[in-house]
Amino acid sequence: MNFCTLSARRLVQDATEELEAAGVPEPAASAEVLLSELLGIRRGEIAQYEEPLTGELAALYEAWIRRRLEREPVQRILGYAYFRNLKLELNEHALIPRPDTESVVDAALEAVDRHDGHLRVLDIGTGSGAIAIAIAQERPSCEVHATDISEGALEIAHHNAKLNGTKVRFHKADIVSGLDLSNSSVDVLVSNPPYVASDQTERLAPEVLTWDPATALFSGPDELLFYRRIFVETPPLLKNGADVVLEIGDKQARTILELGCRSGFEPLGTRPDLAGTPRAALLRWKG
Ligand SMILES: C[S@@+](CC[C@H](N)C(=O)[O-])C[C@H]1O[C@@H](n2cnc3c(N)ncnc32)[C@H](O)[C@@H]1O
Repeated sequence: MNFCTLSARRLVQDATEELEAAGVPEPAASAEVLLSELLGIRRGEIAQYEEPLTGELAALYEAWIRRRLEREPVQRILGYAYFRNLKLELNEHALIPRPDTESVVDAALEAVDRHDGHLRVLDIGTGSGAIAIAIAQERPSCEVHATDISEGALEIAHHNAKLNGTKVRFHKADIVSGLDLSNSSVDVLVSNPPYVASDQTERLAPEVLTWDPATALFSGPDELLFYRRIFVETPPLLKNGADVVLEIGDKQARTILELGCRSGFEPLGTRPDLAGTPRAALLRWKG
C-alpha cells in the first residue's frame, strides 16, 4: 500500500481491513485512534481530513499499523493513554489504565464526598498513577498518597502527576509495608490490585499477556491474595469509618466482600463498570 498518496479516510479503511483480516480486535478503533493521534485531530474529523500525509507521517502510520498487527496495544504504540480527564504516559512497568477502572474512581469519589474536612486518600498499587492522580485532580482538597512495589511504575506515576498538575505523594511499599503514615489516618482506601492467578494466563489476550507487566497482573497461585493482604495489613492505617473501594475481577465480588467481613470490614456492596459487571467492592472499616 502506498500510504503517502492516500486520503486519511482511505488510509484508515485499508488499515482497518488489514487488521481485521489478521484477527486483531477492534480493528477500526485501532486504525482510527492511531491516525487521529498521529495527525492531532479527533477521530470524527478523519473523514473530512483532505491534506495528503507527508511521507514521514505516512511511514510512521504504516509502522504503527505493523506493530498493531503484532498485537501491540494502541496505548503502548502511542506511549500514552487517556483516563478520565488525564493523559498518562506509560513505560513498560505500568499497566495500561483501563476504562473499567474509571468506575472505580467514581466509587472512590463518592466515598470522598461522604466525608468532611481534610481527607487522606491512599491508593495501593498505583501503576501509572491513574486512580490517585484522577482523585487528586477531581478532589484537589484531598491529600492523596499512593504506593507501588515497582520503582519503574512509581517513576512514571510521579512524572504523570506533574504532567497533569496534581500533587500525589508516592511511596515504594509492599502493599503498605514500608509506608510511613500515621496510624488511623486514612479516610478512603482505594486499590486495583493484581487479581489474576498465575495459572490463568489463557484468559488473557496477547495485548495484555505480552505487553502489561506481570507484577501488575498476577497475584500468584491465589487470585485473592492481594485482597486478603489488604484486609489484614491496612486496618492500623484506617480511621474508624474509612471507606474502602477495591477493583475486583469477574465473579470475585461475593468472596471478597465475605473476606472483608471476616476481617472486621462492613460490606456495603458493589459498583458496576460500563458493561454492568460488578467492578468495585465497597466496604467500610469498623475499627
Ligand atoms: C492491576 S495494576 C493497577 C495499576 C493502576 N492502579 C491502575 O488501575 O491502572 C496493580 C499494581 O499493583 C502493583 N503491585 C504489585 N504487587 C504489589 C505489592 N506487593 N505492593 C504494592 N504494589 C504492588 C503493580 O506494580 C501494579 O502497578
